Amino acid sequence: MCGIVGINGSRPVSPLLVDGLRRLEYRGYDSAGIATLVGGQIDARRAEGKLDRLAEKLVGEPLSGTMGIGHTRWATHGKPTEANAHPHRTDKVAVVHNGIIENYRELRNELEKKGCVFASETDTETIAHLISDYLRQGMSPQEAAAISLKRLEGAFAVAIIFAGHEDLLIGARRGSPLALGYGDGEMFLGSDALALAPLTNRIAYLEEGDWVEVYKDKAIIHDAGDKIVERKIHITALSGAMIGKGQYRHFMLKEIFEQPAVIGDTLSTLVTPDDILTMPQMPFDWKTVPRVTIIGCGTASYAGLVGKYWFEQLARLPVEIDIASEFRYREAPMPAGGVTIVVSQSGETADTLAALNYAKSQGQKILAVVNVPQSSIARASDIVVPTLAGPEIGVASTKAYTTQLAVLLCLALDAAQTRGGITPQRSKEIIHALHQIPAQINAVLRDEHHVQELAHHISEARDVLYMGRGLLFPLAMEGALKLKEISYIHAEGYPAGEMKHGPIALIDENMPVVFLAPSDNLYEKTASNVQEVAARGGKVILISDKMGIANCGAKLFHSIAVPTADNAVLPLLYAVPIQLLAYYTAIAKGTDVDMPRNLAKSVTVE
Ligand code: G6P
Repeated sequence: MCGIVGINGSRPVSPLLVDGLRRLEYRGYDSAGIATLVGGQIDARRAEGKLDRLAEKLVGEPLSGTMGIGHTRWATHGKPTEANAHPHRTDKVAVVHNGIIENYRELRNELEKKGCVFASETDTETIAHLISDYLRQGMSPQEAAAISLKRLEGAFAVAIIFAGHEDLLIGARRGSPLALGYGDGEMFLGSDALALAPLTNRIAYLEEGDWVEVYKDKAIIHDAGDKIVERKIHITALSGAMIGKGQYRHFMLKEIFEQPAVIGDTLSTLVTPDDILTMPQMPFDWKTVPRVTIIGCGTASYAGLVGKYWFEQLARLPVEIDIASEFRYREAPMPAGGVTIVVSQSGETADTLAALNYAKSQGQKILAVVNVPQSSIARASDIVVPTLAGPEIGVASTKAYTTQLAVLLCLALDAAQTRGGITPQRSKEIIHALHQIPAQINAVLRDEHHVQELAHHISEARDVLYMGRGLLFPLAMEGALKLKEISYIHAEGYPAGEMKHGPIALIDENMPVVFLAPSDNLYEKTASNVQEVAARGGKVILISDKMGIANCGAKLFHSIAVPTADNAVLPLLYAVPIQLLAYYTAIAKGTDVDMPRNLAKSVTVE
């Protein structure tokens, strides 16, 4: 949430800042702004709304300078207006901030009593006034920043510039991520390495509590106790080109179509071409693990829920699953020797990170399934089994989800093999079926026009229900989430067996009900639910294989045929039509698919 960038260089910095912000716009798009030093004075441009508004403003009112900071905002405190847009500044400093300053009211009262006049409703402006107050008392920028940071409670990543100090940029992190980029005669700060991809591939990640003095040719990093420390410089493989939309109209569509390739890439690290598991050595023994806990938020939590079915069915290992924001405060007792699997695309979700820390404090081994290898979650874990989905920019998660499923299934198989809960033959069958998934997804993608036709009807609905059983129940929740995120149509996912306990009361001729019902051992049960909806005039949309559609016997409003596959791998396959359905419904409604209202891709505040 909120993206920040800082550059201390020798070239005109405005276009570079805007370009960096473009790569961070997935973090928030309520407003954007940049500030630079011009002749030792701070100057800024800010605009409400998406980054394009700021870019347009800069055409009419350019901003010179070779060092500056930029911000793209997801509003927490204060409306998404220009007055609340970052950078926030005084005549002495300008600040951009990602996170929430929890004690900003006390600090603001204190500063107002001293005569500071605030121009916004934000928590961030407090930082600018606080540092300025210490500067007025005669402190150096470094001293003023260090003492101010210690007074802030809450989570933050900040970048700060100082009037009269052409060669000093200060950055700091506590709770929110901040990367430091090393260039040739120029240095960078960014919320993630992606923002800096066109500028440098040499990246250091600040640790919790670190703050850094960034000069044109060096950086001095301090830890939370102000001691000078070194942080390792990584060479990232990210390139600026990786985040283009290519031939696609939206990132989401591009990412849906990338799934066969990235699932293949992810599998190539976990299984051999002749269907043998090659998992990394775990820092625990699956045989003695009493219980697995899986945590995540949003789509990642639904991937985790599928993982629960796999671990329980294949490895006979009990699994507890919870949403990270609940789990972190639940004070759940956790068994000695337990393993916690943390699922996250970004690896930066604040609640997920906090839940991880709670599990750690309870003596659990932490296994992370993340898409960003140097993320905070990856670094805090005992072992990382990465998804190789590549950068995911569309707010609605697609390829991260299916690669998370691929990893979770391989982990469940690893546990099952070690615990002796599965025969070698069955294990090979499942891996073989996993290997077919990329080609089968391609077949679903080739048929996307069927989904497009259906989407026109769905776009007229006010509410939509999604139903599934067993491994397909979590996907019903994921389907509903995708639809509401990007088309703003209210949708709910339900276990089909629960239909009679509530949702059936909603069924009428206006209510589309999407059933995910492959011809598996639960098919007949779900087919009965289909009949019950059809009998009440509901519009049944059946997603199944050809046989399931032919055998249904009920009047269907629409059907989508998916290839037949081993039951164990069906969640990966059925994910694709529900993603396409959400995408084309949003297109039919004309919403902004990649930047839906109020959402942000990376939720780094609670
Ligand atoms: C946000 C995103 C979702 C994502 C969730 C968890 O809500 O919009 O797409 O599933 O955060 O994010 P994570 O990065 O932890 O997977």
